[in-house]
Amino acid sequence: MIRKITGLCILAALSAAFVGSAQGRTAWLDEYDYSSVSIGWGTIHKNRSIENNPLTIAGKVYERGIGTHAMSEFVFRLDSQAERFTALVGVDDEIAASPNGRVRASVEFIVLGDGKELFNSGVMKSGMSAKAIDVNLRGVKQLRLITSDAGDGIDYDHADWVMARIEYAGERPELAQPLRAKPYILTPKPGPEPRITGPKVFGARPGNPFLFTLTATGDRPMRFAVAGLPDGLTLDPESGQITGTVKNQGHYKTIVTATNAKGTAQRELRIVIGDAIALTPPMGWNSWNCWGCAVDDQKVRQSAKAMVDTGLINHGWTYINIDDCWMRKRGTDDPVIGEPVRDENGFILPNAKFPDMKGLTDYIHDLGLKAGIYIGPGPTTCQGYEASWQHEQLDAQQFAEWGFDYLKYDWCGYSSVSGNQTLEDLQRPYRLMGGILRQIGRDIVFSLCQYGWGEVWKWGKEVGGQCWRTTGDITDSWSSMAGIGFGQADLYPYAGPGHWNDPDMLVVGKVGWGPNLRDSRLTPDEQYTHISLWCLLSAPLLIGCPIEQMDEFTLNLLTNDEVLEVNQDPLGKQARRVKDADQIQVWAKEMEDGSLAVGIFNMNAYLAKSGSIDWQTLGLQHNEQRRVRDLWRQKDLGIYTARLEAGDVPPHGVLLVRLFPQ
Ligand code: GAL
Repeated sequence: MIRKITGLCILAALSAAFVGSAQGRTAWLDEYDYSSVSIGWGTIHKNRSIENNPLTIAGKVYERGIGTHAMSEFVFRLDSQAERFTALVGVDDEIAASPNGRVRASVEFIVLGDGKELFNSGVMKSGMSAKAIDVNLRGVKQLRLITSDAGDGIDYDHADWVMARIEYAGERPELAQPLRAKPYILTPKPGPEPRITGPKVFGARPGNPFLFTLTATGDRPMRFAVAGLPDGLTLDPESGQITGTVKNQGHYKTIVTATNAKGTAQRELRIVIGDAIALTPPMGWNSWNCWGCAVDDQKVRQSAKAMVDTGLINHGWTYINIDDCWMRKRGTDDPVIGEPVRDENGFILPNAKFPDMKGLTDYIHDLGLKAGIYIGPGPTTCQGYEASWQHEQLDAQQFAEWGFDYLKYDWCGYSSVSGNQTLEDLQRPYRLMGGILRQIGRDIVFSLCQYGWGEVWKWGKEVGGQCWRTTGDITDSWSSMAGIGFGQADLYPYAGPGHWNDPDMLVVGKVGWGPNLRDSRLTPDEQYTHISLWCLLSAPLLIGCPIEQMDEFTLNLLTNDEVLEVNQDPLGKQARRVKDADQIQVWAKEMEDGSLAVGIFNMNAYLAKSGSIDWQTLGLQHNEQRRVRDLWRQKDLGIYTARLEAGDVPPHGVLLVRLFPQ
C-alpha cells in the first residue's frame, strides 16, 4: 500500500507542475503499442517490468510506465507543439533476484530532442533511486528515448521508464521506427599505380605443393617478378601465382616487383619453408554466415569468382571455405542429401549439391585462390551430416586429394562420444586430426572450432591448430559482435605467427544463415568497429556474405590495405586493451616496423564521445614524436607528442590510427 502511494504522490506532484500549461493534453508512454519496436531482450508489458512484475525501482513501486531492456530506443514524432517530457527512470529491482544481477546491471537513460541531448542519467545501477527527467520539448520534432547498456553489454539491463509522459498541445505524439544509419565510405579507392598488398611473410612445408598468389592494386595489365625465389618454385608473371615444391627448409628473402603502365612497386616477401603455416591470419570467405545449409557448388563458385571480379583478391583475400552441409546424412532417403554417406572404401561422399568436389577446388585454384572445407570429429556435424568419427585418416586423405587447403573441424556431434569432457577428452580429437594433417602431404590450415572450451588458446597450437575459435557463434548484433570482440582482452599472449585466436567470422554485408539473406544489422559505425577490432586482434578474417552481392560500402570496408596491413603484420601480435574508462576503450597493437596500431572505440550506442590517448598509456616516452595516420581515411593527422585528442568518435564507432616513430 505504502508503495502504491509513493507512485501516486509523484504523479500528483508532476501533475501539479503542469497546471497552467497550454492545452495540458497528456500522452502516457504506457498507452502506446511497442510490439513492433525491437529491444535488446524480452517483451514490453504495459505498466509492468520486462519480466512482467510490478514496476519497482529501489524498493518503490510505480503504477504506470514501461519496463524495457537495453538496448532500446523509442522514437516519437512530435509536431513541434509538445511541451514537456517527464518521467522517473531506474533499473528494475527484479534483477536483484538473479545471481550477479545486482552487480552486472548498468544502464544509461538518454533523452534526445532532434538529435540534441536533453537528458542523460549517467550510469545507473541496480538499487539506485529513480532519477527524475523533466525536459522542455518546445519546438522539438523528434523525441528519442534511449536505454543504453552503458557500454558494458546488456546483461541484466532491466530498465524502467515510470510515470513517463509527454505533455502536448497539438497533434498527439506518434511512435515511429528508429531510423537506420546510412552507410558512409571513408576510404579512398586505390590509385592506378602498382601497390603491393597481402602478407609480407608466407610459410609452407617442405615437399608439399606450394601455392601463393602475389597481389597488388593498380591498373591492369600488371606483371609480377620475384627475385630470390627458392629452387622448385616458379612464378606466372601475369597472374602472380607462385607454384611448385620446395625440398629444403629455409628462410628466403625475395623481392617482389609489380609493374603496370603507371609504374613499378617493390616489396620484400619472406618465404619460410619449415613446419609453420598461416604465418599471418587466414583471410577469405566462408559459406556459413550467409548461406548456412543452403550452400551449394554454384554459390561457392559465385563467391570465388566475385572475389576476383570485385578486386578483393588484389587485397590479399585468399580462402574460399565451404562450411557445414556439403556431406550426406545417414538414415535419410532425401534424393539431395541421402545415403550412402561413404563409398565402399569408406571415403566420404558429398551430397548432390556438390557434384564435383575436385572440379570445384580446381576452379578455385585456377582463380589464384585456396579452398577450405568443414567437418567435425564426431559421428555427425552440427547439422546432423556425416562426420569423421573413426574415419579421420580417410577424410583427411580425401580432403587432400580433392585439393583443400583449410579444414574447419567443429566439435558439435563429438559430444556423443567424447566421454566426460576432461581436458584430455577435449584435446583428443584435435590432436588426432592435427597429427594426421601434419603428415598428409598438403599444407592444410587446421582451424579448431570448439567454442573456446577448456581454454583452447592454451593448447590449440600444441595439438596442431593454426587457429581456434575462442567463443560461441557470432551473429549480426552489436551485443554479439562487441561482446565477442571486446571480450578477447586477455587472450593476446596466445596469438602469434602460425597460431591465432579466432573470434568467429565477419558479419558484414548480407547475412542470413540460410536461403534468405538480409543486410547485416550492425550499423555502419559498428561495422567499422568490427573490422578494426578483428584486424587489431590478428583474427582470421572470413567474410560471411555472398561476395557477388556485396555493396559498395562493404567492399570499401574490406579493401582498405592500410587496415588489412594491421591484421597481416608479420610480427603477429594481438592488440592489448590499454584503456577502458568512460565508455571509451583503447586497444593497441605493436607492429613489426615499430609503429603502433591503435583503436579508440566509443562503446556508447547513441552519443559521440571524444577519446584521447596519452603516450604513457601506450607505453611510449612522453616526449616521443609520432606521426599519426588515420587508417580508415588513409590520411596523416599530424605529428604528435605526449598525447592525441581523438575528437568525436561516433556512437559505437572507432578511430583507427597508426603511430609511426619519427
Ligand atoms: C557451429 C559453428 C559454426 C558453424 C555451424 C555449422 O558449431 O560454430 O561456425 O560451422 O556449426 O553447423
